This record gives sequence, structure tokens and C-alpha cells, in this order.
Amino acid sequence: MDRRTFLGTAAAIAVLGRPARAAARSLAMPPLRDTTATGRVEIAARPGRMAFGGGADSATMGFDQPYLGPTIRMRAGSTAARLGNALDEEVSVHWHGLLVPGHQDGGPHSAIAPGGVWDGTLDFVQPPATLWYHSHAHGRTARHVHAGLAGMLQITDGRDADRGLPSDYGVDDLPVIIQDRRFDAQGRSHYDPSMTDILNGFHGDRILVNGQRHAVAVVPRGIVRLRFLNGSNARVYTLHMQDLRPMHLIATDGGFLPAPVPVTYLRLATGERAEVLVDFDAAAPPVLMSNKGTRMRILDFAVDDRMPARIRRVPDTLDALADDLPREGVPARRFTLNLGGGSVGAPMAHGGHSHAHAVEDFGINGRPFRMDRIDFALRRGAVERWVIGGGGAVDHPFHVHGVQFRVLREGGGMRPRPENSGWKDTVLVSGETEVLMRFDVPAPDSHPYMFHCHILEHEDAGMMGQFTVG
Ligand code: C2O
Ligand code: CU
Ligand code: CU
Repeated sequence: MDRRTFLGTAAAIAVLGRPARAAARSLAMPPLRDTTATGRVEIAARPGRMAFGGGADSATMGFDQPYLGPTIRMRAGSTAARLGNALDEEVSVHWHGLLVPGHQDGGPHSAIAPGGVWDGTLDFVQPPATLWYHSHAHGRTARHVHAGLAGMLQITDGRDADRGLPSDYGVDDLPVIIQDRRFDAQGRSHYDPSMTDILNGFHGDRILVNGQRHAVAVVPRGIVRLRFLNGSNARVYTLHMQDLRPMHLIATDGGFLPAPVPVTYLRLATGERAEVLVDFDAAAPPVLMSNKGTRMRILDFAVDDRMPARIRRVPDTLDALADDLPREGVPARRFTLNLGGGSVGAPMAHGGHSHAHAVEDFGINGRPFRMDRIDFALRRGAVERWVIGGGGAVDHPFHVHGVQFRVLREGGGMRPRPENSGWKDTVLVSGETEVLMRFDVPAPDSHPYMFHCHILEHEDAGMMGQFTVG
């Protein structure tokens, strides 16, 4: 059955199944771009206009659509890629979490000029995972991602049915891209961060899922796979079902866990992904919420009994990629995150509008990002422990390009929480955090890998560095 056949009934189901909300409509899925047969992908960044939640049009940007981009499914190996830019400013297309060499990684050194095209291949070997892609243009990442230049990337090996996992896109396997936004009185999304927004990261008070407000995800009465992507500029979510039913965590950023782990609360920082299985076989469908205490409503669900419930139980085990990293004798490298703004907590001298003075203090190890400075060079195959701390009163999601790592300890010494127990490329630094990784993929001087805070305002303000692998 096709998901489209359910769309017309979704609003009615939603109204019957739960208290009516004015604009409820069924959650749209980004179109699926399955490259596993063709071996090629082509997308272009474009300007757009979007009426979010029935409000007035907002100026947006997207890949091949007004806002966000298609969900791209890829197989390991080599995929031909053509990346276009129909905007009147530079963009890049970064493949967050994908283990491609530096010249394919789409970082700030791979800017695509207005009207330009990047032609190349994406060459990688890595297990199935939920990744994403987004603009990483120098100094513009926050504005670009906010405007919509982001999408989901799914690495597949075509074996999810053998694993007993839902994999029917948009039916029992749903992308859930979560973003927070601010809307003006006319309902237009707006982005004009103040100094405080840059210090804390830009937070909105309204939620978009897959670019929609007030949507209802219509699901079959069985096990459904939710692929969460925190595509917000800064907000950290503590996701949970309103009725506190378990979410069975099956994958972190870099792929599957050895076995599903039931969690009630799932913390997801910006840039992170998590895949969970949720059982919708109970009487009333739950509501996805965030943040104990503040209780933000993220996404409503409705069950449609006519949809095929193909999977009825959570598998016992999964085929996680083994952690074969050595633990003994591994050298450590230290990173101290520098939050700008002079003394944190002190009143801002310039009110909301003069950013230049305070922003200059953002950096890592006392140095703001510079395009023309390589911070260090690694040998291919090097194994390192990175110890990340500092950052003042803000928690910072630390991301590294070109690797998947293991979290050894976090929060100043605790064992990793379930969300951080598998392969990761982004970890929330809330107290000193230590990760372990091997650098297997090359990145040359001309196209180094980035490491940075994934609060996009911090990244653009200079909390980023770059390294080579050769
Ligand atoms: Cu998600 Cu350097 O990026
Ligand atoms: Cu990245
Ligand atoms: Cu930060």
C-alpha cells in the first residue's frame, strides 16, 4: 500500500483519536531519493517560499524543494553526485557522519559558487546508519540550515528485513527531523539572532517536524521505526512519549547497537541522530514530547488500522559494527571550548545588536577558526583519545568530520548513557567528555576535516578547527 492513500483520512483520524487541534494534518515525508539502484544522486540548493502551519510565506532555502531536501538512501561503495547551487550566494553540501575523504566531505573548503555545480563521487565503506546533509558554507551554516538547507541521508545495505526491522519508508520507517523556530505575528519564520542568541545558540519556541507545524504521523498498529534527527540550530531535546512507553533505541549516529536498549527519555543534541522502535499496538497512540518540566509537544501520532503492520516484535539482537579500537596506550589530545562574550553571565555591553566585540572570543584552545590554518595533522590509521571540556555555562555538541567514535566517559566522569553507547560523530559535552577514534579516511591540506561545536551560531562564530589525515 502507498502512504498517499492514507493522507486524505489522516486529519479525520487525528480529530477522532485525540483532542482536535485546528491545523492538524498528516506528517509529510520528505520525498525518498533511493540511489541504491542508480548509483547516482543529483540535488541543487534553491531559494523557496513556505507557509509554515498556514501562516504567511517565509523566505526559505531547500534542496530541490522549498524547504529541507529529499531523504537520500545510499549504499556503501561509490555514488556519483552532482550538487548544484541555484542560490545567489555560496553553499556547500556537507555529508554529516559519512566517512568520505576530505575532498568529498562538503566542508567550507568545498564552496559551490552561485550558479555552480560540484561533480564528483561519494566513496565510503560504513554500516547502515541515519546521517544527514546540510550546508557548511563558511560563516553561513547557521543561516543556511535555519533557512532549510538540510536533509536526511540513510545508508542501507538492503538487509533490514533480515534484521526484523521496519524499512518501508514513510509507512513504518519514518524520518523525524526536529527543528525549533520563531514565528512573527503573521506566522513567518524569522532568524535574527541577538548577542544572547549567539551565546546560547538560537532557540525557537515552535516546533517543526519535517518542516511542518502541528502534523500528525499516521502509523500502522505495530512496531514503527522513528529516525530522529535533531536539525535545530542549538536546542537539545529530551524526547519521550507522553505515556512514558519505552522507545527501543536501535541505532546512534554511526549505526546499530548490538541489541535494542529500552529508554524512556532520549537526549538528542543538535546534529545527533537516534533510531528507535516504538510499539503502537496499544489502545491510544502517544504524543512525542520533549523536556521533562517544560513539556514541549513535538509530534502527535494516529494509528490507521488499514496500514500494514509488518513488524510486531522488537528484535533481540542487531548486527552492530564491532568496537575494535584499542584502549591501552592511546595518546590523548585536549580541547577546551571557548565561549565568546567575554565573561559569561556578565551583562552585554552592546545590547542585542553589536556582535563583533563578543563574538571574537569564540574558539577552541584559545583560537578562533581560520580557513587558512590547519590545527594539526594526523597519520592515516592513527588512534586517539580526545578529551573535550570547557565551554562555560553552555553544553556544546562536539562533532568531528571523517570519523565515527566511541564515548569513553562523559559528564565529567560518568559512563556513557545509552544514547552515547554506540558509534557517534557528535556528542554533547556537558562536563569533560572523552572519545576514542581511529582516523581511516584521508583529508588533504586543501580539504581538511572540521571539528566543531554543532550549535551552529557557535560554529559560525569560530568554535571550530580543522585537521588533515594523510
Ligand atoms: Cu553537521 Cu561540520 O557538520
Ligand atoms: Cu559533519
Ligand atoms: Cu557551542
